[in-house]
Amino acid sequence: MVNLEFEYRNALNFVEKEEITKYQDEINKHFESLNSRTGKGNDFLGWMDLPDGTSEEMITDIETVAKKMQSKSELTVVVGIGGSYLGSRAIIDALSHHFSQLKGGNNPIVVYAGQNISEDYFTDLLEILDDKDYTLIVISKSGTTTEPAVAFRLLKAHIENKYGKQDARDRIVAITDKEHGALKELATQEGYKTFVVPDDVGGRYSVLTPVGLLPIAVAGFSIREFIEGAKNMKQHLSASKSIEQNQVAAYAAVRNALYNKGFTTEILVNYEPRLFYITEWWKQLYGESEGKENKGIFPAGVSFTSDLHSMGQYIQEGLRNIFETVLSVEKPNSELLVPNDEANLDKLNYIAGMPIHEVNHQAETGTTLAHIDGGVPNLKISIPKINEYNLGELVYFYELACAVSGYILDVNPFDQPGVEAYKKNMFALLGKPGFEKETEEIRKRLG
Ligand code: PA5
Repeated sequence: MVNLEFEYRNALNFVEKEEITKYQDEINKHFESLNSRTGKGNDFLGWMDLPDGTSEEMITDIETVAKKMQSKSELTVVVGIGGSYLGSRAIIDALSHHFSQLKGGNNPIVVYAGQNISEDYFTDLLEILDDKDYTLIVISKSGTTTEPAVAFRLLKAHIENKYGKQDARDRIVAITDKEHGALKELATQEGYKTFVVPDDVGGRYSVLTPVGLLPIAVAGFSIREFIEGAKNMKQHLSASKSIEQNQVAAYAAVRNALYNKGFTTEILVNYEPRLFYITEWWKQLYGESEGKENKGIFPAGVSFTSDLHSMGQYIQEGLRNIFETVLSVEKPNSELLVPNDEANLDKLNYIAGMPIHEVNHQAETGTTLAHIDGGVPNLKISIPKINEYNLGELVYFYELACAVSGYILDVNPFDQPGVEAYKKNMFALLGKPGFEKETEEIRKRLG
């Protein structure tokens, strides 16, 4: 049994059941090639072993390092981009108090750098770090990515200046390749504590490695529960490959059936602001995995009810190429009722005494129905509540579904060749040695 439930009955007005079940044979084949590691990108399937293959020794090591960092810092800066950033941010934000930066607490506040190259962002961050005790986790699998490298250069100088070189070393943890890359070399030279990103796990599939686990543990959340949820999902999904019983098979089949009917954009919808970065993580996972060879479902995201007052109009009446997947949370972690008001000027007394979550829930149901009426197929993934265990289930569900769905599209879901194009131009424009020819070509092009 798993807590997560996937349902697609609200897509059946838009695709016939047979258009979904026709994927069964293909899905069996894709599960088989994932398990036998014979499909596209099969040297990047290490993520499949993480839920039940992460050793007790590794978990304890992460927890011990996290405790040490907690004891030394009010803030921990996580430096990374893409898959070296979004997983931990998604889980930490989903589990944290909405106003944790104001509330404070026993554990360090986790902030992020290296996910942009904004001078103002860095300036503001360094200003805050002047007055706070902090530690650094620098994450880059390749160890050569420009954004985190720029961030780490600034932060390394700052932390060494603030604490002295020796103390600074004890405040920095590097997570990178086991032997290659500039970050590995630097970490070895400086003697930083390091964790390894396994060779066979790509960035966007790495949240169950130290890339995700260390920041989550530093923020004070249970990585054991998180791994346990993923493990339970993995076990559950191994029992049957049937679209009727295996939720990954069902999700992969339905989204491809919709795609083939012209629904080329999937919007992940949440009704809980703390799930915002789960959507960002999902967008990267699916966008980088499927968007290639001129095909792929475009992954988008909205946060309702907020975005009902901005994107709602488009979803209801715009171009009919979108379907939605609602990430629904059955129960909140707290209880708060709509208060009664004697004057009732806002005419809200008809819901006085109702839990706020119930109002949110009815907004969700009402919106789903309206969007279906407007021509938007609706899928639903529900979890009982937001906690480490259920997020572990969700993460593994999405990863496996992404692999199967990518195979249905006949792409390699584990590479990202398109990401290189911008880098080449940026290096040429910045005058990086070795890019002289490209610099000349790009200068001509820009006139
Ligand atoms: O999913 C991926 O592989 C990418 O998004 C990478 O995580 C991202 O480009 C960062 O790479 P690196 O960890 O090598 O700095």
